[in-house]
Amino acid sequence: MDGAGRVYFHTLGCQMNEVDTGKMRARLTAQGWVTTDDPGLADLVLVNTCSVREKAVDKMRSVLGSYRMARRFGQRVTIGVAGCVAQERGAELLERYPEVDLVFGPDGVNRVDELVARAQRGERVMDTTFLDLDGYPFSDEIDPATTGVAGFVTIQKGCDNKCTFCIVPATRGAEASRPADAIVAEVAALVARGIKDVTLLGQNVNSYGLKRVGEKTFAELLRAVHEVPGLEVLRYTTSHPRDMGPDVVQCYADLPKLASHLHLPVQSGSNRVLKRMKRYYTREHFLDVVAQLRKARPDLVLSTDIIVGFPGETDEDFEQTMSLLDDAGFVTSFSFKYNPRPGTPALKLKDEVDPAVASARLTRWQDAQRERSLQFHRSLEGSVVRALVEGASRHDEGVVAGRTSAFTMVNFPGSPELAGSFVDVRVTRGFTHSCRGELVGA
Ligand code: SAH
Ligand code: SF4
Ligand code: F3S
Repeated sequence: MDGAGRVYFHTLGCQMNEVDTGKMRARLTAQGWVTTDDPGLADLVLVNTCSVREKAVDKMRSVLGSYRMARRFGQRVTIGVAGCVAQERGAELLERYPEVDLVFGPDGVNRVDELVARAQRGERVMDTTFLDLDGYPFSDEIDPATTGVAGFVTIQKGCDNKCTFCIVPATRGAEASRPADAIVAEVAALVARGIKDVTLLGQNVNSYGLKRVGEKTFAELLRAVHEVPGLEVLRYTTSHPRDMGPDVVQCYADLPKLASHLHLPVQSGSNRVLKRMKRYYTREHFLDVVAQLRKARPDLVLSTDIIVGFPGETDEDFEQTMSLLDDAGFVTSFSFKYNPRPGTPALKLKDEVDPAVASARLTRWQDAQRERSLQFHRSLEGSVVRALVEGASRHDEGVVAGRTSAFTMVNFPGSPELAGSFVDVRVTRGFTHSCRGELVGA
């Protein structure tokens, strides 16, 4: 079995993996491969993996299990493991899973066609080498499966920070910035395909360009992308609070397409914990950045990431995190119990938090967060918001879903043909995760 056939992609983890899968799809499609949504029909299964928390790795184990069984029961399928777990545990995966033919990390995405061809010739392939940062070969290809109104564009690879809990620098390697003109060109190409809402992606976007001589800074990049005709909403993720400088803050005053929503992961509200996490900012600095941002954009909606139960976190430390919920006014958050990751510096910290205590803290944060989300969505009741219609609601017939610039989801009765247009919606009811409304005009 050599040459192109049907490929099935299984993507776990973050947006970055989603984009990498799209790049692999583009590459393989160009070689004649056809995407299938039935793994039972696939000649090639590629699992793009995540290792940020052990739960994500467990997920990989379970999905891999089902594809391995298929192979045992006679399906002639090439099985590849890509992404962050592949990078981190390459050899171990090949050893443990005899049915896996191919293992490669995030830097192998651009060579997926070559790697697959080798595996099809019977070689067990492992490629986890990090490529040279100088002239790093960012893929410019567009995912042929691009649909809808929202799209993602990679602006940076890797991460040079050393947050002590985090495995990402080990799985994605050192940081490199993609040339600004390639980014602008990809945004324009997405817009030509009907995308109106674009998110620029990197692990630490604020340090974009700083390590590449002659490249734009992140603020300059935002301004350049903002000029792309037909682009309506510009977002980015992820931002590091330490590196959020006045030039980016100024963009919130100057650039109307820049979304009124910012995801700014704080991780903890305690300076003692932040220090042990090596985040290199304080609670006070974080709140100061938030205040500046709100001055530039008064209606800014903030979301964040929180880790509870980091080693040594006391009740008092945790109370500092709890009080930040109100002090910073997070409308939503992703919150996690600290999970020790292989090879990370935090493994050396021996003052672990009792798992039951960590669970109780997580529940407390999440309950309070839900209440805040609900309050925010209720505060919108009676007002008229502008939303980009994404398409039919997944839950209710005759209802469509739209997103505001602040990333609020509004559901309202309407035709799916509205997808891709901006509408004004009067909010009639706020819930925890979304609002309900009625159309007032297109
Ligand atoms: N580059 C991004 C996020 C990367 S990982 C940033 O700097 O924010 C996404 C989120 O997963 C992190 O913000 C953190 O909250 C969480 N996370 C990362 N490592 C973790 C660990 N070991 N245990 C629990 N949560 C973790
Ligand atoms: Fe991990 Fe920190 Fe880099 Fe984010 S900034 S990817 S949390 S090391
Ligand atoms: Fe993303 Fe998971 Fe890798 S969060 S960067 S796929 S470890």
